[in-house]
Amino acid sequence: MVGVAIAHPPESLSIDRKVALANAALIRLFHVAGSGGGVTLQALTAAGAIVETALCSSNIRGWLEVVWQFDNATHQHCLLVAGLAAAFGRQLGMSRADCQRLTHAALLHDLGKSRIPIAILNKPGRLNTIETAIMHEHPALGHAMLGGQGFSEDILTVVRSHHEYLDGSGYPDGLTGTDIPDLVRLVTICDIFGALIERRSYKEPMPGVKAYAILESMTGKLDMDLVHAFRPLAELAG
Ligand SMILES: [Fe+2]
Ligand SMILES: [Fe+2]
Repeated sequence: MVGVAIAHPPESLSIDRKVALANAALIRLFHVAGSGGGVTLQALTAAGAIVETALCSSNIRGWLEVVWQFDNATHQHCLLVAGLAAAFGRQLGMSRADCQRLTHAALLHDLGKSRIPIAILNKPGRLNTIETAIMHEHPALGHAMLGGQGFSEDILTVVRSHHEYLDGSGYPDGLTGTDIPDLVRLVTICDIFGALIERRSYKEPMPGVKAYAILESMTGKLDMDLVHAFRPLAELAG
């Protein structure tokens, strides 16, 4: 069982403190999963509640500013994507339950990376062919790690399918069109955008407007109605 110190942080905590709590919960999720333990629904719910509470009292920009300071690339990425997903769900007017599912799925989407060698995860610059093939195993790894533990099928599908594209050019299953559910499409947009605006020591950060232009250029791969709905968030990201 994975415990967390504060499941529902008080509203009065600073955004820095809330992001720190969310990160601590995320570290536990990844540590337990990476060492062969089971990720519990309780731990995931706690981490998701922290993200949602933080975004209720701050805007996405405040969340990003704190998360950008993190050195651990995978943690920074998952927290960026979770914050973007929570904000995107609210902006789309999704129900609280749907927002929670979206946030939980975003937090877990790259859990399989806990089984990918650090040297590949943190490699500055491009991966070679072999490294890319290993990296591409993370969706199926994450899906297998979470199977049979009570997670809903739609969250498992996000973990497995967040690198699929509508035109069938994604991985691991080469899904197309309606085979890719809305929850996956939402996380995929947040995932790509989050990866583009990440801050690393070895590269210049990409401005939100430029990252959004890349999303817009992915016609045929991404759901363009959702990409256009994402635009206000991208502009807030600076
Ligand atoms: Fe991924
Ligand atoms: Fe990702």
